Amino acid sequence: MTLAAEPATGPTVPAQTPGGDAVLRRQRVRESSARTYARSFPIVPVRANGMTVEGADGRRYLDCLSGAGTLALGHNHPVVLEAIRRTLDSGAPLHLLDLATAEKDDFTTALFESLPKEFAGQARVHFCGPAGTDAVEAALKLMQTATGRSGALAFTGAYHGMTAGALALTGNTAVKEPLPGGREVVRLPYPYAYRCPFGVGGETGADLAATYAERLLDDPSGGVVRPAAMILEAVQGEGGVVPAPDGWLREMRRITAERGIPLIVDEVQTGVGRTGAMWAVEHSGIVPDAMVLSKAIGGSLPLAVVVYREEYDGWRPGAHTGTFRGNTLAMAAGAATIRFVAAHGLAERAALVGARMAERLRALAGELPVIGDVRGRGLMLGVELVDPDAEPDACGARPAAPALAVRVREACLARGLIVELGGRYDAVLRLLPPLTITDEQVDAVLDRLADAIAAVAAGDAAGRSGASGEAAATASAGTR
Ligand SMILES: Cc1ncc(COP(=O)(O)O)c(C=O)c1O
Repeated sequence: MTLAAEPATGPTVPAQTPGGDAVLRRQRVRESSARTYARSFPIVPVRANGMTVEGADGRRYLDCLSGAGTLALGHNHPVVLEAIRRTLDSGAPLHLLDLATAEKDDFTTALFESLPKEFAGQARVHFCGPAGTDAVEAALKLMQTATGRSGALAFTGAYHGMTAGALALTGNTAVKEPLPGGREVVRLPYPYAYRCPFGVGGETGADLAATYAERLLDDPSGGVVRPAAMILEAVQGEGGVVPAPDGWLREMRRITAERGIPLIVDEVQTGVGRTGAMWAVEHSGIVPDAMVLSKAIGGSLPLAVVVYREEYDGWRPGAHTGTFRGNTLAMAAGAATIRFVAAHGLAERAALVGARMAERLRALAGELPVIGDVRGRGLMLGVELVDPDAEPDACGARPAAPALAVRVREACLARGLIVELGGRYDAVLRLLPPLTITDEQVDAVLDRLADAIAAVAAGDAAGRSGASGEAAATASAGTR
């Protein structure tokens, strides 16, 4: 079987599906003003296959958003469709709360087989409501119950979800400020070399971030009550595709272990091969106390779990319940996806292809000064766009260019490429293609992206004779 469902496609035009404009119009007036992706991509997808999405406008798009990193195998992969069809044809109940089923049993086996052995050997799983944010809530509650403590340590740039507890852990103030309250969360600096919180960057910045965390926790007047847990992402996704150095992650593991603070790693976005390893913790070799998993584990259907070391299982029956915790189809699709990724070495392939893409993007940065930084791990890549005329700071970083980034996103869409923005100022182009992306598709993505950035940058440069351009731009700073 080939890895991808379909080879590369251009923005060619099959028959148009009528009604797209009316659908967009109705959605605009009926849905809430919190609509997000629908604003960035005013298209109405009618069919999708592999990396290709076909809109009602008759155009085809290469999808580098992949359901915010959900679609490890792209859209409608044959293995996923076959698992869903097989389950439907079997007559298995589709909704079962958390009752025991063969599908759940099989999913749990596939999941545990894929997890690092030192972790899975002594782990338990809890099926949550089917969103990453609910699994984050569950992990936090679990550790609060186990430790009898309430607060948490979280990081600048973190994204953990939109429910109250997960939002408290999230870094983005734009989505937090309007809301009262929030749990006691101590915010620690995440090592972001390009915009280093200590203004030094590189390994020194990461070392300082670890030293600061350790000294703060040990300072009797530091104001930090011993927390229930530390939660972190090994590669921050929504925060702007910021990979943490492996050494820093090992330091966080050492610091928390020495102080009896459980470490939760949020692998909602990084899991199932995305970063070039089945799970992002494998790069550093750390063994967390809990892992929060969602997105790709459901094979494109909603599923979320928390997996944790059994010694923390102090929960009473019903301690974290929820109606939709028994999604049979998602378990079947998820088990098929996890096994396919493992059997076909797609994590290793993501590492190779991601490195090649990053190399080409770095070469492009040499030609286009609006590209301030290229970073990522595996097929989780970020291109930070900056104002090329502004003075760089001490780390060599120029101010973010959010308005330019919006124009690049639009220019990409016009060229048949779906790329979303993220990061502190919404100025990071985030590439999350499926792990099945073909070499041909890699070329098509990079060609379209390069063309879009170059065109927007040239337009800006031409229009700048006298104008301050980006300085007038305002960042939405919202999460997706
Ligand atoms: C790292 C991380 N944690 C948690 C979440 C929340 O997941 P969900 O949107 O399914 O609630 C996300 C979503 O993007 C995420 O990237």
